[in-house]
Amino acid sequence: MKRRWGRFGVQIFGSDIQALSYSAQKVSKDFDIVDINMGCPAPKVVKNGDGSKLLQNLDLVGKIVEEVVKVSQAPVTVKIRKGWNKKEDVSIQVAKIIEQVGASLLTIHGRTRDEFFSGDVDLEAIKKVKEAVKIPVIGNGNIIDEESALKMFEYTGVDGIMIGRATMRKSMDI
Ligand SMILES: Cc1cc2nc3c(=O)[nH]c(=O)nc-3n(C[C@H](O)[C@H](O)[C@H](O)COP(=O)(O)O)c2cc1C
Repeated sequence: MKRRWGRFGVQIFGSDIQALSYSAQKVSKDFDIVDINMGCPAPKVVKNGDGSKLLQNLDLVGKIVEEVVKVSQAPVTVKIRKGWNKKEDVSIQVAKIIEQVGASLLTIHGRTRDEFFSGDVDLEAIKKVKEAVKIPVIGNGNIIDEESALKMFEYTGVDGIMIGRATMRKSMDI
């Protein structure tokens, strides 16, 4: 039975459909959301074909999300980046695939893998993704204060925002 003292999601990552299916079945019994990480840029992750590397294999993205949706007892969401690099912006394409195979929501970090965590966030790309799908879209990247949060909402029309590093920086002063 799911915990009732709060809402908690769990994130899984990988590129092996069977392993992801197995973990989604397990964790979806105890958590309210199963999120699939398709945005991690870390070399140790992408060298195995996981995280943001999946953005170069959209066929597999579709198969993974479809399978996880099929076995999960909780709604399935996906976290993506724009693509592998600037030449390969697949954000709209991947968002449509993710929606088509049954994900309930997607979060987009407005950078490519090769940008890691630096440089500007592409609000235009986030806006286009929001316009391309009907499922809720969460915008992410460089939100550090009220102004940047408001800008993300107003410029892109996203349904929600995700704040990463600033949550730690503010509270831990790092
Ligand atoms: C140290 C570190 C670890 C992260 N781990 C994850 C993770 O496990 N899953 C995930 O979806 N994103 C992870 N991210 C990415 C953030 O969720 C977010 O997409 C990224 O930092 C951009 O947002 P920000 O500019 O608000 O930090 C991580 C980021 C950092 C810096």
